Amino acid sequence: MLSAHLVPARNAFDGTDLIFTLNSAAQARAALGESVINATVGALLDDNGRLVVHESVMGLYRQLTAPEIAPYAPITGDPAYLLALTQRHWPMLTSYGIGVATPGGTGALAVSLRNMLEPGQRLLTAAPYWGPYVTLAVENGIVMDTVPYPADGELLDVVAWRGACEAILRTQGRLLLWLNDPCHNPTGRSLTTADRRALLQMLRDLTPLGPVTLLLDFAYLDYARDQRTVRAALDEYAAIGAERDVLVGASLSLSKAFTLYGARAGALVFPWSTDTALGAALATSCRGTFSNCARAPMSVLLRMTRDESAQRALADEHLRWSTILTQRADALDTALQAEGLRAAPWDGGFFVAILLDEPFAVAERLQAEGVFVVPMKEGLRVGVCGLKVSDAPRFAAALRKCLAA
Ligand SMILES: Cc1ncc(COP(=O)(O)O)c(C=O)c1O
Repeated sequence: MLSAHLVPARNAFDGTDLIFTLNSAAQARAALGESVINATVGALLDDNGRLVVHESVMGLYRQLTAPEIAPYAPITGDPAYLLALTQRHWPMLTSYGIGVATPGGTGALAVSLRNMLEPGQRLLTAAPYWGPYVTLAVENGIVMDTVPYPADGELLDVVAWRGACEAILRTQGRLLLWLNDPCHNPTGRSLTTADRRALLQMLRDLTPLGPVTLLLDFAYLDYARDQRTVRAALDEYAAIGAERDVLVGASLSLSKAFTLYGARAGALVFPWSTDTALGAALATSCRGTFSNCARAPMSVLLRMTRDESAQRALADEHLRWSTILTQRADALDTALQAEGLRAAPWDGGFFVAILLDEPFAVAERLQAEGVFVVPMKEGLRVGVCGLKVSDAPRFAAALRKCLAA
């Protein structure tokens, strides 16, 4: 039914979110007593399917006093919060540069679109990508172009990436690139150092064509096989940011880092910028969309920065869950290979992607086997954040059966 009250362009949606819909379907089947593998979710679950919540964080949350929760936060966010969140990624920085608090990383992505592109212009990102990227683009009147995320064992296709960047710069005079690296959703991999360097050099080379903004979308950095590779990536990004030819920004979030998904705490920061016009524009976006963000999670982060024992406890929790994610991803990889299927190596994050043909049909057949995953154009997204080690062989066997069908 069309609504007469909606403007025509807003009558074109079905309003559902594929990930949440599939998760509900899996839960409904489990509630009927069926043994279900639910690998749709984007939140960390323990082996009993319960949401993991870091006690180090919740302990601080419980200590919050009324003034740390109730008052409005400044429209652009508490500067101490912005600095603390930025320093979680780049501890050597003494300023967050230009930045605003946003409702999660999603809010940061939306604010970047509204300020770096005109309606109708094109955003560039790698495919496969986190599904809501398209929703964010559509909602902001932006067209999303993609370049291929390098397949396992293959080099980044610099020629294709350069061609796409150059075409956009030549037609619209500006480029906004969203890069979800390291710990990419959904592939579960990070760019190799060589690929990252080639990409950054290519962006540097293109700056004479117009302003280039590289927005780093960091969501899962605390959950990696090897934190040293995360550090190395962040250092590379800091180096290009400090050159200030390419504008480097970051979408930051406490959703996964603090297991505070529901608190909606994030930020959009440009740590190497001093551009006051940029600051004023971002502040206006905040006021004109959500006014201010929640104060409580900002206060929790500030308490964390003052509490060394809570910091140690959180580091332990991150290490524990990174280890479990590594075991789960490795178990899945081994099980897939044991079934003669393509390997799915993992560097970090909550997912792995299994690239295959007809993903939507395969995902549907998998449901008949009690296995729920999220289909994408390129294959299946499997949430290792919710897939316990002992389920990996059943998962792989079901997949082989469905691929043969
Ligand atoms: C790649 C990626 N970016 C950004 C986000 C944003 O999350 P939030 O808005 O909860 O910070 C997510 C969450 O799933 C994600 O996977």
